[in-house]
Amino acid sequence: MNIKEVLAKKICEILNEEESNIYKTIEQPKDKTIFAFPCFRFAKNAGKSPAQLAEFLAENLSGKLELVEKIEVVNAYVNFFIKTDVLASIVLKRSLEQKSDNGKTVVIDFSSPNIAKHFHIGHLRSTVIGGSLRNIYKYLGYNTIGVNHLGDWGTQFGKLIVAFKKYSSMEEVKERGIDVLMEIYAKFTQEAKEDESLNDEARSYTVKLEQGDKEATELWQYFKAISLKEFDKVYKRLGIEFEYILGESFYIDKTQAALNELKEKGILVESEGAMIVELEDKKLPPCLLIRKDGGTLYHTRDLAAILYRKNEYKFDKIIYVTATDQITHFSQLFAVVEKLGYNFDMQHAPFGLVTLPEGKLSTREGRIVLMSDLINQTVSKVREIIEEKNPSLKNKDEVAEQVGVGAIIFNDLFNGRIKDIVFSFEHVLNFEGETGPLVQYTHARACSILRKADESTENIDYTLIKDEYSHDLLYTLYMFEHKLEDVIAKDEPYLLSRYLIEVAGAFNRFYHNAPILTSEKELKKARLALVKETVNTLKKGLNLLGIKAPEEM
Ligand code: ARG
Repeated sequence: MNIKEVLAKKICEILNEEESNIYKTIEQPKDKTIFAFPCFRFAKNAGKSPAQLAEFLAENLSGKLELVEKIEVVNAYVNFFIKTDVLASIVLKRSLEQKSDNGKTVVIDFSSPNIAKHFHIGHLRSTVIGGSLRNIYKYLGYNTIGVNHLGDWGTQFGKLIVAFKKYSSMEEVKERGIDVLMEIYAKFTQEAKEDESLNDEARSYTVKLEQGDKEATELWQYFKAISLKEFDKVYKRLGIEFEYILGESFYIDKTQAALNELKEKGILVESEGAMIVELEDKKLPPCLLIRKDGGTLYHTRDLAAILYRKNEYKFDKIIYVTATDQITHFSQLFAVVEKLGYNFDMQHAPFGLVTLPEGKLSTREGRIVLMSDLINQTVSKVREIIEEKNPSLKNKDEVAEQVGVGAIIFNDLFNGRIKDIVFSFEHVLNFEGETGPLVQYTHARACSILRKADESTENIDYTLIKDEYSHDLLYTLYMFEHKLEDVIAKDEPYLLSRYLIEVAGAFNRFYHNAPILTSEKELKKARLALVKETVNTLKKGLNLLGIKAPEEM
């Protein structure tokens, strides 16, 4: 049962308003376990002041709502207090199974690193934000299509091919992988500053690549395979999956059709030898789509990609998860799509930059933290803590991996996307406070209570649950599905992370104040059911963020 829906229906019988507007207006205040209806927006239509309307509603609703314990008016707010046993019967009977298919498809373009470079902490945000959104949309009944739009095309690959032929060999790359690719690329950039002919050579290899030349293509494929091997290891450890891994190169043969469509509609114009779409009317810089030398660009490939995806996946919504430095890029892309006459639901979910305390991430200046190093260090630190605190734990390595990776993901998903992050090892490794390990630990503790009890949690007498701690916990657990609605309304997974901290807090207060195992039989059963639903909710919530929930730690 959806409590907000029941309240909205009843209020709607009194006010001459859209039920959905009423539904959206009902609030769940942060510090109280009530549902509040602010009357401001509806006062004028009702011909009353907001405070008068609140009084009027309270009078007319009193005694008419089964699930309500009492109604209170505070200024222009009508506050509904829900009966504890009603909350209990809803929460303790619910199932957290994936919702049935709602017929909508959402494409999430995320992670999308550039190949021939290491996977580092700068890639983590898109990867975990996108990954958790994919899980949450899916859980809510959407058909979700996660796409990894690898940066595997562009002029840099002409340079890399020349660099490889000049300075390296298959043997060396086989042995040291991406390190070599990055070193030779840096060396090329350095030498090309002095020697312009290197750039000419690189340009000719870029063209060869675009024309499908055998040698160039084979080398490029080799670089891509080396990169994917490293990326895959990281994705496995982070538990990230995609429906499709399709790099920019996949769209090369689809760019012509997109460009033709622009030409037919008279939108593509020449400018200094290049082809662009003017976006002055949208107050944006022009979108460059064909280079002077005829080559395609990042924008061209993105345009071909969105049209392809609309055709193939028939999406209702598409979300791109990248850093804020691509806000203009996506505004331009969306504007061009609109100029073509399409009305797609396109969202850019930007996030703040990750920097190190010493400054911006920079490979060249050695300010970089590789994802694999971060994971290894975090996991080994967790392993030490386990050795110290719980040396008899079974599966220590497995738990250390789950907690270490969980700490990294949770830390990243703890703040709103747009906030810049100064990355600090100490912070990720700090297990006190509002962290993933705290939520995991609360889950494990609740699991251990269930292990110690042998009662079934069937046929609960909900009226036995009366104390305020249980009420708070029930109310908090009830909020789960609403929080997920909030997450997808804003594409902000941190709302779920913060919520899990709230559940952990409510559970800990309940645990300290409402005796479980020592209570008399029926009450014990009821409280155990509450523990069980806490376990279910924490586990489901963590999993939706992409985090495992070990039963012991
Ligand atoms: N490869 C790009 C980068 O590393 C991100 C790609 C994002 N997705 C897209 N469809 N443009 O910045």
